[in-house]
Amino acid sequence: MGKHIEKTNFTLSGRFLTYILSKGCNVKGIRLATAQGEQYIKLSKSLRPACSDILQPGTWIQVQGCQKVNTKTGKIKLKAKAIMPALPGSAVNNIAQPSHERVEDVQKGKIRICQKSSCRKRGSKQVLSALNSALQSSGQDKDIQLQAMGCIGKCKAGPNLVVLPDKARYTKVKPKNITQILRQHF
Ligand code: FES
Repeated sequence: MGKHIEKTNFTLSGRFLTYILSKGCNVKGIRLATAQGEQYIKLSKSLRPACSDILQPGTWIQVQGCQKVNTKTGKIKLKAKAIMPALPGSAVNNIAQPSHERVEDVQKGKIRICQKSSCRKRGSKQVLSALNSALQSSGQDKDIQLQAMGCIGKCKAGPNLVVLPDKARYTKVKPKNITQILRQHF
């Protein structure tokens, strides 16, 4: 696994929309309509035979699996390990950072954090992780987008972080500073 990939578990519920087929016409994933918009979820190989053709569009399901977050690009990949029936209207969602563009429209702010080598050596990966956890536990992950950014030329003062829309720049950020920064801007 690449060094920019972080792996965690997720649980997500919503209405099954459709199967996604591979070039060979085998089922490789599903699309799910969730409270945060549509999500593509890959099915693990062990789940594919059991799941093919049994789900009807509109059926409420809960999906559990693992998500890989690329801490450099912010891209998320979901892979289902278990699918079970869910109650209509249930809205379980613990995905670290919704990637769907429709969510971005309603976001209130953005935090950019340098993920280039000098800042990473000084702990920017740990700061990104701490931010991710803090936003999730406070429920602000739907409103505030985390974004990896390139070098801004302040390498020796890293980890560097910029909070938008306030355009506030922070240097030498440590995980213990996260709560204070979030409180100040959101
Ligand atoms: S590496 Fe982060 S500012 Fe240069």
